[in-house]
Amino acid sequence: MTRKKIVAGNWKMHKDYEAGRDLAQDIIEKLQPNDHLIVLGTPFIHLKGVSMIAKEVSNVAVAAQNCHYETQGAFTGEISAAMVYSTGARYVILGHSERRTLFGESDATVFLKVKAALANQLTPIVCVGESLEHRESNSHLDFVAQQLQDSLFGLTAAECNAVVLAYEPVWAIGTGKTASPDQAQEMHAHIRSLVSKAYDPETAAQLSILYGGSVKPANAAEIFAQPDVDGGLIGGASLVADDFIAIVNGLQ
Ligand code: PGA
Repeated sequence: MTRKKIVAGNWKMHKDYEAGRDLAQDIIEKLQPNDHLIVLGTPFIHLKGVSMIAKEVSNVAVAAQNCHYETQGAFTGEISAAMVYSTGARYVILGHSERRTLFGESDATVFLKVKAALANQLTPIVCVGESLEHRESNSHLDFVAQQLQDSLFGLTAAECNAVVLAYEPVWAIGTGKTASPDQAQEMHAHIRSLVSKAYDPETAAQLSILYGGSVKPANAAEIFAQPDVDGGLIGGASLVADDFIAIVNGLQ
């Protein structure tokens, strides 16, 4: 079974309105024809504009970086999955470690957001990953298993089939430290086997699992070459069109 290969950019809280439009345009102009899916994860203010720019390009989609799990209501400052969908965005990054650590998101909240995204025709890119402490105490595999149990495995198999996962070791995000290709492969294979046990081998085989954490043009191809790595979630390097394109070109 062939899985979808994806390179997703996570712009985080970068780029004002004009700069965001310029970056999206630059990326799209420089993109070579390829079969992979390219997702641009922008701040909310860019969702509509970048969706318009990407409209004509069949393999480029737009993602929000968060959404609320309620449809509407008195939630000042929040944006619902339905609102994200109305901009033209079709993906949403959920459970990023910055959301978890800086904004107190728990696995339970992530699960509610995943359900809301799916109910509103958005594909969630669900992030999991261990801290340095868990890695050093050799509990990283168990830690990620628990995150999956609490933030994902309450879904039905049909719902799980519509999800993309991202493994992002917290110690590798924005630090310049990358998981080695072997470390990434070990965790990706572990995640796939957990999904197989929780659901079935087919669901596991078709699940796209992206690696994120200091992916750069220089290390992308080696990480992407691992059998269970289906692409990447790129932070810093997604803000420079040439770097992002070089990373996309590293995906075979
Ligand atoms: P980074 O961020 O590529 O800058 O390490 C990855 C992420 O947070 O998604």
